Amino acid sequence: MALSCVLFFLLAAVATTVSATDHIVGANKGWNPGINYTLWSSNQTFYIGDLISFRYKKTQHNVFEVNKNGYDNCIIEGAFGNWSSGRDFILLNKTKRYYFICGIGGCSDGMKVSVVVHPLPPRPPAAIAAVHSSEKSAAPTTVGGFGSLVVKLMLVGLMIYGCSRI
Ligand SMILES: *[C@@H]1O[C@H](CO)[C@@H](O)[C@H](O)[C@H]1NC(C)=O
Ligand SMILES: *[C@@H]1O[C@H](CO)[C@@H](O)[C@H](O)[C@H]1NC(C)=O
Ligand SMILES: *[C@@H]1O[C@H](CO)[C@@H](O)[C@H](O)[C@H]1NC(C)=O
Ligand SMILES: *[C@@H]1O[C@H](CO)[C@@H](O)[C@H](O)[C@H]1NC(C)=O
Repeated sequence: MALSCVLFFLLAAVATTVSATDHIVGANKGWNPGINYTLWSSNQTFYIGDLISFRYKKTQHNVFEVNKNGYDNCIIEGAFGNWSSGRDFILLNKTKRYYFICGIGGCSDGMKVSVVVHPLPPRPPAAIAAVHSSEKSAAPTTVGGFGSLVVKLMLVGLMIYGCSRI
């Protein structure tokens, strides 16, 4: 098989098995003062490869990744990174506890969030079997079922296209 053909198969395999989550900090409240982000972060599970995203008015706030001391005391000196686009997507690619704070004043008004990133859970064989059997038996009436069917059809189309051009 030619390389491009193999690539399409690899892409298809990745697209159908990996689903990273984008965790929007503060959900519809965004990144703003006066919100308890401990409540927000304790309500969800972060896995390696997920994104955390910050949405805010870029003239008023920003985002710094700091260590525990920076988080506890609202200090940006020695920060690991900073973002200021107003719509910042940060890849959580390490299994560790991350600390983010606002670097323009907001930290002391609660603009600090800490999240623990977990390794990917192994998929139990029973769950994989369940997914497969439900794909076969269920009619594509649900949004998820129909959506994934469309994605698969597109991938098959891409594979045929990619492999026919060799
Ligand atoms: C946020 O909520 C948690 C859990 O209820 C609480 O322990 C913590 O003190 C709160 N933080 C602030 C700054 O109010
Ligand atoms: C926790 O998550 C649930 C389900 O996603 C949501 O309905 C609820 O509002 C969340 N609570 C907080 C404090 O974010
Ligand atoms: C923000 O990050 C840039 C590199 O991306 C760095 O040059 C700059 O010093 C950082 N700013 C602060 C205040 O740490
Ligand atoms: C994680 O992502 C950061 C920035 O996106 C990058 O600098 C770093 O090399 C990545 N680390 C790993 C282990 O992939």
